[in-house]
Order: sequence, then structure tokens, then C-alpha cells
Amino acid sequence: MPNEGVMFIAGENDVTKSKEIMELDKEYYQQGYARVPIVIVEGKGAVLKDIEGNEYIDCFAGISTANAGHAPDALIEAGTEQMKKLFHVSGRFHTVPQVKLAKKLSEITPGNLNKTFLCNSGTEAVENAVKLVKKYAFVRGLTGGAMISLECAFHGRLGVSFSLTANASYKKGFGSYSNSPGVKHAPTPYSYRSKFSEEECGTEAANRLEEVIDRHTTGDVAAFIMEPILGEGGIIIPPDCYFTEILKILKEREIPFIVDEVQTGFGRTGKLLASEHWGLKPEVMTLAKGMGGGIPIGACIGTDKIAAKLESGDFFSTYGGNPVTSAISLANINYIQEAGLIENSVKIGKVFMDGLEDIQKKRALIGDVRGKGLMIGIELVKDQSSKEPAKDEAKRFVELIKNAGVLIGLGGIFKNVLRLQPPLVISEEQAKTVLDKMNNVFAGL
Ligand SMILES: Cc1ncc(COP(=O)(O)O)c(C=O)c1O
Repeated sequence: MPNEGVMFIAGENDVTKSKEIMELDKEYYQQGYARVPIVIVEGKGAVLKDIEGNEYIDCFAGISTANAGHAPDALIEAGTEQMKKLFHVSGRFHTVPQVKLAKKLSEITPGNLNKTFLCNSGTEAVENAVKLVKKYAFVRGLTGGAMISLECAFHGRLGVSFSLTANASYKKGFGSYSNSPGVKHAPTPYSYRSKFSEEECGTEAANRLEEVIDRHTTGDVAAFIMEPILGEGGIIIPPDCYFTEILKILKEREIPFIVDEVQTGFGRTGKLLASEHWGLKPEVMTLAKGMGGGIPIGACIGTDKIAAKLESGDFFSTYGGNPVTSAISLANINYIQEAGLIENSVKIGKVFMDGLEDIQKKRALIGDVRGKGLMIGIELVKDQSSKEPAKDEAKRFVELIKNAGVLIGLGGIFKNVLRLQPPLVISEEQAKTVLDKMNNVFAGL
């Protein structure tokens, strides 16, 4: 696999330029999210460079998106070639990159997921998935009145996806906009925070899903949606038995299953799609983030049976399946497969997990280390037995490790989970440097 390495020369450590940009940002950009106070200007491989020339090892990949690394040649070439020919015509015409990408997605997704609709983000992918299953319910003589997601889920911040996102911390001030009629939430199989053993936690959560379907709905459920590993919720990995049991429950009731692979897809978890870990064959799958490696693209893919129910005009997007984004996305998927990035995700994921488990033995602050491939969460707690979330410490850790030249993510329903989701091109040497720096920061925290 290619090691793009560190290629920048550190510049003068003058913060005037970033201060200027941040002031402009404050004045002109809608402040909807607290930013890390760095102005990033370039990236290559797993390294980012700020406007002052400081370098950082990137362990968050633009929120699990730049899976193929920053500025990979294969993607630049594919985009440039396509831009020379055609930027845009809209979905009113056939284009070559769009259909080639759709064919590729049909080949790499499980079961009978054969009909792709391309859009521009994860949120749009989820919104289209909801429309798809609602229409499928309608043609079966149902209303599809209910939709069920998990309590720690994240599926977006707009429309129905906002309601499917259960975390109340995002919802303050949005009234009924954050709570679409019919959306219900079922408990998350979150073993670390369960009073049950891992296996029992899976069974208990599956039983509770059954209860939500049978007691809290009239049975008229358009779909159950879940992330195979919950990303924003804190890298929560459901026990294997959970999937076995919910698949039975959904099948018995003929409830379509939507697997949201927006964050888990494209090598992130050590498989091309996280669904492969459990052999999931959903009726609908949503994709985005790592699908484009950094260009805005998303996909909603349905089985032939479900997708056949759509009529002309049901789905449309001016930019969806744009030739440039489609060409880059196809090159990105091929690159991830051909350059050994899935294998590297497994290999470096193990380096991180082993190193983190060693650090955990010395630090009472670390309650849990969990992950698959390069999707790793480190849950910080004030006390190992009460498991009180160490939210302030987690925030401080992210700040200190940034100052040491490593960018990581923060998540979890209590905002106490450190997230390592680096570009899949990260090398063993870079991973070891990150572990050393993390060890030092933990020692001083
Ligand atoms: C699982 C999942 N679904 C949907 C979304 C929304 O994607 P986007 O931010 O591209 O709209 C996210 C974003 O983090 C996600 O993690």
C-alpha cells in the first residue's frame, strides 16, 4: 500500500494568518458548530498542514471521510479527466460515470441491493431511504406510519433524519421539527453501559426492539434503521447476537431493514462495508462520507423489489450523480480496494488497539477501548465502577493532543468518547507516533 508520508516543511510559527481567518469566519460564517481553532490549508496522505505551516497527523479524516487519504493522485486524476469533458447536466440525462458508479455499488453491496440513487450527503441518503420505504409501505396497502431507530443513533440533522437521530443534545430549540410523527426509538445494545453481560445486552436490546414494534406502534412500520457500528453515538459495536435476533424479529413482521453505512463504509472497519462483519443483507443501504473520499456524494440503494415501487418524479436531485463526483467516487472505491487500504485498516487498527489497551492498563480514566479496523473509540470515565462520563477530561485531551500535533475526534452520547478514525493510508510509524503522544497526554492529564 502506498505510504504518502510527510511532505511538508514547517513554516514560521506566526498565528496572525489564522487569527485573521477566524475573525472573518466569526463575522461572516454561520456559527452552527464549534470549530477546532486551526485553519487547514493542505493535506497529503494522513497529514494535514495549517496556514502557519504546522503539521498534524490526522486521526479523524474529515469525520471518517478521507478514507483514501488527503489528495490521493488516483482521485485527482479521475476528477481532472472528467472535468475536462463534462461538469454537469443534471439527472435529466444519462451520463457514463453515474451508471458506472451505480453498477459498482451494486457489485460491492450485499444481497439484492441493485438500485442506486445518488445524492450529495449522508443526510440526503437517509431522507431518500425513508421515502423509499414509505412508498414501499404504501403500495403494500399500509401507511408506513412508524419508523424506528436506536436511542444513540445519528442519521442527520435535517428532516426525518433529524428525528431518527435520537440524541436530545442536538434538538434543543427545534420543537416539532426535531420530532417527526411516527418516529420511535429503541434501546441501543451498548454493552459497556449495560448492566447485563455482552450477550445478554444484545438479547435484551433485541427484546426491547420487539416491544417497541409490538406495543408502541400499530405494526405499520415503514422500516427499522441502524448504523452497524454507531459512530457519533460513541463507536458502539453491537454484540453479534443482537443482529441475529433483530433480523428474525424484522423478518417475522416483514419490516424492511435500512443499514446506514454512511460512517462505517469503505474500509473503515476493516471490511469494505461493516455489514460484512455480520452478513447483513438489508432491504436498503445508505452510503456517503468515505464513498467519495472528500467530495460531496451519497447513495441510497434499494433491493430490486423495493425500488420497483418508485414512480418517475419520486426521486430527483439536480446534482445527485453529477459526472465529476461520480467519477471521483468510482476511482476512490477502486483505489481503496486495489491499494490494500482495507488490509491496512485491519493491520493498523490492531496496532492502535494493542497500544491503547496497554495505555488503558495504566490509566483509570480509560473505561473502555473498542473498535473494528480503523474505527476506534476510547471511552473516558471519572470512575471505573460508576462509569461517570469524563466529558471535561475528554475535551481537554482532544485539545492537548492537538497541541502535540495529532487531530482526533470526540463523540458519544455523553461527549466522553475519543474517536480515532484516520485515513486508511496511515502508516505503522505514524500510528506509533500517535500512540506515544497519546500516552504522554494521558500521563499529564
Ligand atoms: C451514520 C450517519 N448517517 C448520516 C450522517 C449524515 O451525513 P452528512 O453529514 O453527510 O449529511 C452521518 C454524519 O455523521 C452519519 O454518521
